[in-house]
Amino acid sequence: MASLDQVIQAGGRRFRTATEFVEATLKQAILSGALLPGTPLRQEELATRFEMSRMPIREALRQLEAQGLVDFEPHRGAIVVEITLADSDDNFAIRSALEPQALRLSLPHLGPDDFALAEDLIAEIDSENDPARMGELNRRFHMTLYAGAGLPRLLALTEQHLVAADRYLRFHLATDGDMGQAEHRALVAACRARDENEAVAVLNRHLARARAGLSAFFAARAAS
Ligand code: NI
Repeated sequence: MASLDQVIQAGGRRFRTATEFVEATLKQAILSGALLPGTPLRQEELATRFEMSRMPIREALRQLEAQGLVDFEPHRGAIVVEITLADSDDNFAIRSALEPQALRLSLPHLGPDDFALAEDLIAEIDSENDPARMGELNRRFHMTLYAGAGLPRLLALTEQHLVAADRYLRFHLATDGDMGQAEHRALVAACRARDENEAVAVLNRHLARARAGLSAFFAARAAS
């Protein structure tokens, strides 16, 4: 973990608590690729490197887990979340099958309140900088437009894969920063106009652009 030491040294101690310092430092190391997917994050080893007790380390790892950057595995303990282009492509393939279908089935049942809620969520995303919150708002935005489908299995499956996409969104936002808000607006406009084909076309563009963004992210990471 030589590169982690560099990040620790560069970070300095400008944080209020030890936990905050560890969390921010590990987060930067994970998002920048200094700590690669699958890297074990052993509490004892980190405590030594950060020169502090294990308690703030454990707490920081829990917070990173909540942000989708760390996984706790039964026999391995904490590891940097596994993200791969293949898994991302898998996720997009499923979303590209489910979401247009959910949208088509939902649209006839959506009303002005749903469109207003979707627009509120777009505005909330605009004023948000925290990737974790942005991911959650993005998920609620999409699910608002699919909810009218009224099919619990389809909606649960759709939401499950939107949640899975969240971990990729963090990395995407850390490099690119474009949530596809222009597409979100065009999507609601097409829904308001009851133009099903246009709405689905915009959604497909939205998914394809996000997928391309992640491909570029992985390509850049592989080259660095
Ligand atoms: Ni979106």
